[in-house]
Amino acid sequence: MAKRIDVSGLSAYYGNHRAIDDISMTVEPRSVTAFIGPSGCGKSTFLRTLNRMHEVTPGGRVEGKVMLDDQNLYGKDVDPVAVRRTVGMVFQRPNPFPTMSIFDNVAAGLRLNGRYRKSELNDVVERSLKGANLWNEVKDRLNKPGSGLSGGQQQRLCIARAIAVEPDVLLMDEPCSALDPISTLAIEDLICELKERFTIVIVTHNMQQAARVSDRTAFFNLAAVGQPGKLVEIDDTERIFSNPSVQATEDYISGRFG
Ligand SMILES: Nc1ncnc2c1ncn2[C@@H]1O[C@H](COP(=O)(O)OP(=O)(O)OP(=O)(O)O)[C@@H](O)[C@H]1O
Ligand SMILES: [Mg+2]
Repeated sequence: MAKRIDVSGLSAYYGNHRAIDDISMTVEPRSVTAFIGPSGCGKSTFLRTLNRMHEVTPGGRVEGKVMLDDQNLYGKDVDPVAVRRTVGMVFQRPNPFPTMSIFDNVAAGLRLNGRYRKSELNDVVERSLKGANLWNEVKDRLNKPGSGLSGGQQQRLCIARAIAVEPDVLLMDEPCSALDPISTLAIEDLICELKERFTIVIVTHNMQQAARVSDRTAFFNLAAVGQPGKLVEIDDTERIFSNPSVQATEDYISGRFG
């Protein structure tokens, strides 16, 4: 199958510190890929290189190549702002714009992108909230602040905001780690629906979650403290959790790590 994302020889630095080393992998369209591995192995850093967010950090720098379909995201003429529109992101802590209404939170990205007729905006907001499984809970209070929602609702609001601009890829960095189990399941169900339209990459510390939602799993590890993180292996999720190729993967997923 055609690859949506094709990473080759990617290293990322904070100043002189190399946080991840020489990562290569591909991601197929309309699939969910989970990143797992111990704290500090560079999962978040790597995720942020996939939409050019890493370079926003002072000293943040990347070597290597990230192809999204036919475009090298680090090519000379590429606008990082456009990249971040095409490759959306959802963070660990739900971060709705606190003073904005629910409606305006979802519409924010569209308004930045250009002019929309009011009716068009209404449609997109409704569609995005439905897509994020939040519409029924908020349709009667669209003008209330997004910060008045529960944590799980806020995270779905952030997902609605991210999908409103129709990205190709959705990056999620531990999107459920601040949520209760019910909200977590709601987000997991949502991820399974969203993958019909989007390519999803999710970082998680929850092995069951990786096993439940992802088609492919990538295990990252550190050789030693202070060393850069590396991709140990990436394979079908079923394979990683039943019969991984590398002993370190087996040790990690069975809790024998460290
Ligand atoms: N803003 C930063 N400035 C300097 N170093 C950083 C910065 N962010 C992360 N690092 C370093 O880069 C390495 C990888 O960190 P990263 O946050 O990507 O790991 P992670 O796998 O996401 O960890 P966790 O599971 O705890 O979220 C770590 O050594 C970390 O200390
Ligand atoms: Mg992280």
